[in-house]
Amino acid sequence: MATTIRRAAVLGAGLMGSQIAALLASCGLEVLLLDIVPDSLTPEEQRRGLTLSDPRVRSRLATQAVERLRRMKPPPLFTAEAADRITPGNLEDDLPRLREADWVLEAVVEDLGVKQDLWRRVAPHVQPGTVLSSNTSGLSIAAQAEALPAELRPHFLGTHFFNPPRYLKLLEVIPTPDTDPEVVSFVRSFATRVLGKGVVIARDTPNFIANRIGTYGLAVTLRAMARFGLGVDEVDAITGPAMGRPKSATFRTLDLVGLDVFAHVARNTRARVADPAERDALELPPYIEEMLRRGWTGDKAGQGFFKKVKGASGESEILALDLQTLEYRPRKKVRFASLDQARNVADPGARLRALVSAGDPAGRFAWEVLRDVLAFCAARLDEIAGGDVAAVDRAMRWGFGWELGPFEAWEALGVRETVVRMEAEGVQVPDWVREKDRFYPPGPRADGPLSFTVQKADPTRVVKAWPGATLVDLGDEVLGLELHGPKQAIGQDYVAAVRFAAGEVLRNWRGLVISAEAPNFSVGANLVLILMAAQDEDWDEIDQAVREFQSANMTLRYLPRPVVVAPYGMTLGGGAEIAFHADRVVAAAELYMGLVEVGVGLIPAGGGTKEMAVRMTRQVPRVQSQLPGPVDAQPFVNRAFEAIATARVSGSAAEAAQLGYLRATDRIVMNRDLLLAEAKAEVLALDRAGYVPPAPERIPVLGPDGRAVLELGIYTLRNAGQATEHDAKVARKIAHVLTGGDLPAGTLVDEQYLLDLEREAFLSLCGEPLSQARMAHLLQTGRPLRN
Ligand code: NAI
Repeated sequence: MATTIRRAAVLGAGLMGSQIAALLASCGLEVLLLDIVPDSLTPEEQRRGLTLSDPRVRSRLATQAVERLRRMKPPPLFTAEAADRITPGNLEDDLPRLREADWVLEAVVEDLGVKQDLWRRVAPHVQPGTVLSSNTSGLSIAAQAEALPAELRPHFLGTHFFNPPRYLKLLEVIPTPDTDPEVVSFVRSFATRVLGKGVVIARDTPNFIANRIGTYGLAVTLRAMARFGLGVDEVDAITGPAMGRPKSATFRTLDLVGLDVFAHVARNTRARVADPAERDALELPPYIEEMLRRGWTGDKAGQGFFKKVKGASGESEILALDLQTLEYRPRKKVRFASLDQARNVADPGARLRALVSAGDPAGRFAWEVLRDVLAFCAARLDEIAGGDVAAVDRAMRWGFGWELGPFEAWEALGVRETVVRMEAEGVQVPDWVREKDRFYPPGPRADGPLSFTVQKADPTRVVKAWPGATLVDLGDEVLGLELHGPKQAIGQDYVAAVRFAAGEVLRNWRGLVISAEAPNFSVGANLVLILMAAQDEDWDEIDQAVREFQSANMTLRYLPRPVVVAPYGMTLGGGAEIAFHADRVVAAAELYMGLVEVGVGLIPAGGGTKEMAVRMTRQVPRVQSQLPGPVDAQPFVNRAFEAIATARVSGSAAEAAQLGYLRATDRIVMNRDLLLAEAKAEVLALDRAGYVPPAPERIPVLGPDGRAVLELGIYTLRNAGQATEHDAKVARKIAHVLTGGDLPAGTLVDEQYLLDLEREAFLSLCGEPLSQARMAHLLQTGRPLRN
């Protein structure tokens, strides 16, 4: 039995195989990616005089797949370099190399015969302890196992990723009766910790858990749509965020996934399930068959339920398909009172309750769709999930992006009331549900990893609370600072919480963790207040606010106890600056970090510009000691300048490290759910190791010559039309701060000197009408303005 997985082999370099290879490589594994040998040459290969026996031709499919990975959006790779860990090959010449693999995962076409044949050919080449798994969407795992010799079967199971595998959290793990339970728990723990997935154990039934429910949900939606006489845009308006589902709702999702893929899954399920009612529900309506015939499968075909066209004025417009006539028509503005109300309810349970009790068509439609899905989940729970309601809820949240799983939604509506309403409408509910008041024990679930929500459920653990921040006892004498409020915008509450925490930590705690629990860590400082003060020309107020933010961050840096910041998701502007001042950052792998202030015509002034200067110049002497002559600091400062002036946001934590936003001592945690626990562990480790705060920095500045180099770059960009005059003005301010203002080259300055330069630049830019216009535009539209 493998104790860890370092090398994996992925068989099948199609859509899923290649992206799974990208995920594994991003997580640090060496990956062999194999596909079939082509039986004909491309024109390009002919031109180059290659033959079918040339290795470049024989491994072409996997080689091209790796190239595609580098260009795909959203990126399946954490960094471009991760693709170098994928070795392309083919399923004939490279089978002997499977001996080196700790995990062999197949993702070839969805065809039982093909998969069985592949396992027969693979079996002689793998070591006995190797984990073997199939990424099938719904074929029987046990039937594939039959193709393997008995001694390999204990290591074989299903590992069903969701597309796109980097971004969708769900991994369904499907054991067969022969799978060794130790292998199941090893794969579960490996996928959770190393790949960052949310694992759900599913039974070996057609399409497993999430797709089985998702397909049924789609089918009942189509039926309800016909009953209610609604159009595709209306159904999407109801079945999106109003019901706690993603914005892409029903038909946008179908266009993204591909109608052919959905139809394949629906037919496959229909052919294999026993219940005639389920089979009936899964019969596809005639318009879908017709759309398939016409090839209108969605985005990949350029049209599906929606179609993007260029209007007369050259503007692109999105049309919706009329399912009666199969003609495209302009989209309707959908208005239902219940939907307008739902929009204002933040809590997903309360929102759903309000919607399904509304009497208008949207409310009744939502109810009927939900009702049928709930009844289905209850009826199928044992078969697909072995009676585990949490597995079903997680599968739908992690695989389909539902805010609440079906049983969580049911509980939010009231289990009994809902049963009464269902039965009154003639919908059958299994006995086990009729005996219940709840599906989960009351209170927050304590079985999960450390979280602010669970800690705060015990009021004695709340140390002090502000509207935008709360200090929470995380246990083991570690204090937590949770950022919350609208988008975790940073403002006075953060400053107040840090000030209070600084005194508190010294007296009673080993150290401090700063994180959040909303979808993103923080999108930066509270822009509304800055813009209002700027419009009122209240410079003292802005000066004061910036000073306080800078000083809070410097408090973190020099606090005599360890401070760990745990960012994830969007960590922009002030959010990044908080992280920059931690002793350690423990970041989630999905980290979109950047100093984006130039987008609103400002520069980072919470210590962000200062900190980039400190970090970059700190790299200089280290390099210098390895080289004979003196080393020029310019290239390092150039890097900092480029990152800030272009508002470069990392596409992952690994890329944040490349950009210099994370340091070598910072850590990356693959699974976001484990972040807070890992950050707390880091505080304890630093404390045990005898933490002392860092010594104050002395930073040698580049001076006017260094600034001239940066200004030349700005001038060139401006002349090439790649920067506006205002971009250039902001960039010159950044250059001024990064090179130390007007001091001569080599002068040693302290951090406060650079902070003062940052603040002056920030204040002067707040007074610029073009910067104010950028702020106002971003606040109004959510998009940056280039002026
Ligand atoms: P795909 O069509 O993109 O890739 C299939 C790959 O199999 C191709 O690279 C093809 O060259 C290779 N192949 C074809 N015939 C073969 C043979 N006889 N022997 C070996 N390899 C052969 O398909 P996709 O979407 O990547 O699906 C692969 C597997 O993943 C399927 O089992 C599918 O059900 C499953 N899956 C698909 C998802 C999706 O959203 N597309 C999601 C989750 C699972």
